[in-house]
Amino acid sequence: MKGIILHGGHGTRLRPLTHTGPKQLLPIANKPMSQYALEDLKTAGITDIGIIIGDVHPDKVKEYYGDGQKFGVTITYIYQDQPKGISHAISLCKDFVGNDKFVVYLGDNVLRKNLVDYVKNFQNSESDALILLCKVDDPQRFGIAELGKTPGKIKKIIEKPKIPISDLAVIGIYFLTPKIFDIINQLKPSWRGELEITDALQLLMDKKNKIEYDVVTGWWKDTGTPEDIIHANKLVLDSIGTENQFLIDADSAIKDNIVIGNGTEISNDSFVVGPAIIGKNCKIGPAVKIGPYVSIGENCILKNCTVEDSIIMNDCTINTTTNLSCSIIAHGSEIIDSKTKKNQFLLGERSNIRI
Ligand code: TTP
Repeated sequence: MKGIILHGGHGTRLRPLTHTGPKQLLPIANKPMSQYALEDLKTAGITDIGIIIGDVHPDKVKEYYGDGQKFGVTITYIYQDQPKGISHAISLCKDFVGNDKFVVYLGDNVLRKNLVDYVKNFQNSESDALILLCKVDDPQRFGIAELGKTPGKIKKIIEKPKIPISDLAVIGIYFLTPKIFDIINQLKPSWRGELEITDALQLLMDKKNKIEYDVVTGWWKDTGTPEDIIHANKLVLDSIGTENQFLIDADSAIKDNIVIGNGTEISNDSFVVGPAIIGKNCKIGPAVKIGPYVSIGENCILKNCTVEDSIIMNDCTINTTTNLSCSIIAHGSEIIDSKTKKNQFLLGERSNIRI
């Protein structure tokens, strides 16, 4: 079986973070979110992986994953010139897929349970698709499945229903066969101008093909918005050290659900409340309180601040008496005392500050 990771898209809801790179490279618990997808595929024995790259800094994706060797997989890059929809992205993979069955994994989805059982089931099944469903509190935000009266059958899939017919969202991991390519050829763009995956799955069903489903246990997170990213960070930090895919790097230490990278110094008058992860070579203190649910990247300097429920990426400096909560601070940012006692900001487009 082959794997496809979708690494394109606009990422508009995550601006300004996506002005300088694709959203799928944003770190959750100090690891790019698409790396969870790649490692899930690899754990399930899928090592021939195609990555769809779009027009938001595709060079950064290639630079990070390279030919895949570092991650124990082989990567083929497939370029999507514009984000014309998930089905459009899949249609570009026809040559890469050949006659194999394949799994499409949206690079901004994170799933607690690994894919091993689903891959085995689909490999041995006669179905033309296997989709995974997850109960959600806000079905209006997702593609929702209506189950049929016959057990195991799906009746309908509806994209972001105003009045939801169930609370079962179709998650961004699709097990497919090459039959889907003919189906996608017959699709028309939706009202938002995209070839939708829900339309492809619905047409596959309408043409009397067999679609199976499974309801996932544990959590699943689609990380389209800043709030989703903070929430995903929380979910992953809660799983650190307990699930294979959330194991920590060999050069980090873990104690009481706190992961600390090599070379990081924490002063005696500072403290960390887990779950939390701090990368390599950080200097924490004096008078810093970190956690719970905080991820800090490498080479950061934190002084006199309190941070909870937040993500601070590599090479950041925070040196001021401030209290950060539910914040995402991108690579190389500084929050420091103003020498003139007036606030001074240099903010990217669509920045969001509450003080
Ligand atoms: P979305 O989150 O639906 O879309 P988006 O990435 O364009 O974000 P926004 O709505 O904030 O502008 O995309 C779901 C996933 O599919 C995500 O990982 C990006 C990927 N994708 C592609 O690779 N190609 C595409 O054409 C589209 C629409 C999405």
